[in-house]
Amino acid sequence: MPNTAASNSVQAGQQERLSPAEVERIRADFPILDQEINGHPLVYLDSGATSQTPECVWEASQHFYETANSAVHRGAHTLAVEATDRFEDARSTVARFVGAGEREIVWTSNATEALNLIAYSFSNATAGAGGPEADRFRLAPGDEIVATGMEHHANLIPWQELAARTGATFRWIPLREDATLDLEAAASIVGPRTRILAFTHVSNVLGLVNDVAALAALARSVGAYSVLDACQSAPHMPLDFAGLGIDFAAFSGHKMLGPTGIGALYGRAELLDAMPPFLFGGSMITTVSLDHAEFLPAPQRFEAGTQRISQAIGLATAVSYLSETGMGRIEGWEQHLGKRMLNGLSELPGVRILGPSADADVSRTGTVPFAVDGVHPHDVGQFLDSRGVAVRVGHHCAEPLHKFLGVSASTRASAYLYNTEADVDALLNAVSDVRAFFGVK
Ligand SMILES: Cc1ncc(COP(=O)(O)O)c(C=O)c1O
Repeated sequence: MPNTAASNSVQAGQQERLSPAEVERIRADFPILDQEINGHPLVYLDSGATSQTPECVWEASQHFYETANSAVHRGAHTLAVEATDRFEDARSTVARFVGAGEREIVWTSNATEALNLIAYSFSNATAGAGGPEADRFRLAPGDEIVATGMEHHANLIPWQELAARTGATFRWIPLREDATLDLEAAASIVGPRTRILAFTHVSNVLGLVNDVAALAALARSVGAYSVLDACQSAPHMPLDFAGLGIDFAAFSGHKMLGPTGIGALYGRAELLDAMPPFLFGGSMITTVSLDHAEFLPAPQRFEAGTQRISQAIGLATAVSYLSETGMGRIEGWEQHLGKRMLNGLSELPGVRILGPSADADVSRTGTVPFAVDGVHPHDVGQFLDSRGVAVRVGHHCAEPLHKFLGVSASTRASAYLYNTEADVDALLNAVSDVRAFFGVK
């Protein structure tokens, strides 16, 4: 199996991209960027953790409160009908954005909840819920759940816990020496016992793009369900879940210009309809008696209780903004900035890129992890902050990957559509002063 780009991603530099003038126009939509931090212009390079939101997103949420606020799928009055229409329109917009049918998108609080939803649904099936339709989700000792050595904890711990609850065995695909996924090993680990193959599209630490189509095909070839963590891809590249051939995917609104408190689970409709619910309560039932309940089809069977309506509308506005800007051109711009960071950082004495070197022939996004020899990443982060540069430090919820890299923590710069070449240069300037500031020779 080739160790190359995912089918929907291309190598840096070969793709159309935003122009610097467009990026300047985009920045005007993000007033938060126009401020000074510690006496320096803010350089926000932490979008891998949480992105900024354009004005249109919070205006859309506010407009909902000003004109149609009420509970969805419940009332017969005009405002409730209007709220329901806008909520369901938001679902259709987000579904189109990721190449899904509208019944295939379930609203969740974030990607973490979406991934837990799958794990708990399988767990409930294993405990007997869901009738004969749910047989195919039941796990037993001897079954295997496989993830990878580069997962965010959100796509790791739910599977460890599911294995512990059901007696299944948890395994993982190792990384090669350069921290890319070992696809040859994957082909020997994933086999007839595998029931679930969970993997990230893009590593939140390394910015590496995995070959989704190949991994989904591998899962399918052994009859396993594929679960894609799309947290770091949905914001940054064109996506077509149906075309990629995956069964499930998860992503978070706050990483793609949307509000916090909203994310989504994608699942193929015939799977979602057969899976037992995870949360129980109002709005997800067809009929209830004192000792029994029947559930609606997907997506409502997974949306118990009052929903995150203004957040869903905000997220739909965010993805419309991204679509209008052009996902391919956003991806191209971020790859350009990523390359500039990689090249610049690798030229600085005492600075090491973690993962594949700057000139490695791998597919990546605009996320770059690095180490400054002799300086703890938390000190690096604080020094950069004193220069107005916001980056993430720590293990980025990927502790096993950091152990593999031989470090307990790292510094990560992650670019988005509103970052400029000047932002990258400000990062490089600040990093070049770190060692002198801490007196490291
Ligand atoms: C790859 C990846 N998966 C999952 C998550 C979890 O996202 P959330 O905290 O929004 O649920 C993140 C967030 O950093 C991530 O980067």
